[in-house]
Amino acid sequence: MTKLTWLSHGGWMIETGNHRVLLDPFLTENPAALISAEQLPDIDHILISHGHFDHVADAATIANQHDATIVAIYEIAEWFTNTQHVQSTIGMNIGGQLDLPFGSVKMTPALHSSQLPDGSYGGEPAGFLVTIDRSRIYFACDTALFSDMKLYAENVDIAVLPIGDLFTMGIDDSVAATKLIGAKKVLPAHYGTWPPIAQDASQWADRIRGETTAEPVVLQVGESINL
Ligand code: NI
Ligand code: MN
Repeated sequence: MTKLTWLSHGGWMIETGNHRVLLDPFLTENPAALISAEQLPDIDHILISHGHFDHVADAATIANQHDATIVAIYEIAEWFTNTQHVQSTIGMNIGGQLDLPFGSVKMTPALHSSQLPDGSYGGEPAGFLVTIDRSRIYFACDTALFSDMKLYAENVDIAVLPIGDLFTMGIDDSVAATKLIGAKKVLPAHYGTWPPIAQDASQWADRIRGETTAEPVVLQVGESINL
């Protein structure tokens, strides 16, 4: 069984078999987080989409505590190795696929920016297409709407899209992205953390139900969906 849990903001945990994988964990300085980094179960991989603080802030601490491997674009993987003293990193790049013990991970494009907190160059921002058994989960991560999403994520089982607006696509464009992709289920993310990205998720869900063929699944922080 595979379980996907929303940690709040852009942060997710995938549990499958005896593996636990994080995406963009952001807990310590996150007013919406319900658990601290110390309360996480044992983690083996951490996927990082881009260099902004709300995606990288807790990753090095968690990685070193759990001997977890950070997977990120080459420039960010190097930054974790060289400046954050993370023991295990894997650098990849957009369009590349990587087989890991829990499944495969493909790095997809994102339309955003990516500078690390100390000003270092973070390469290009990314999303991830994660395939576990035969289920495909598309994490768009921080991005605007762009039509190439369809090439990477057409008919995925689950699409996780940002809806917070201001820094990423908002509700209108997430509805358009859902139509474009044709996802079976769509989950909102990157909203509600701070007032500038507040959104009414039930209004978003009504739009998805009314205008697309996807099933909206609104998780509260800490809630999970089984694949
Ligand atoms: Ni960002
Ligand atoms: Mn962000």
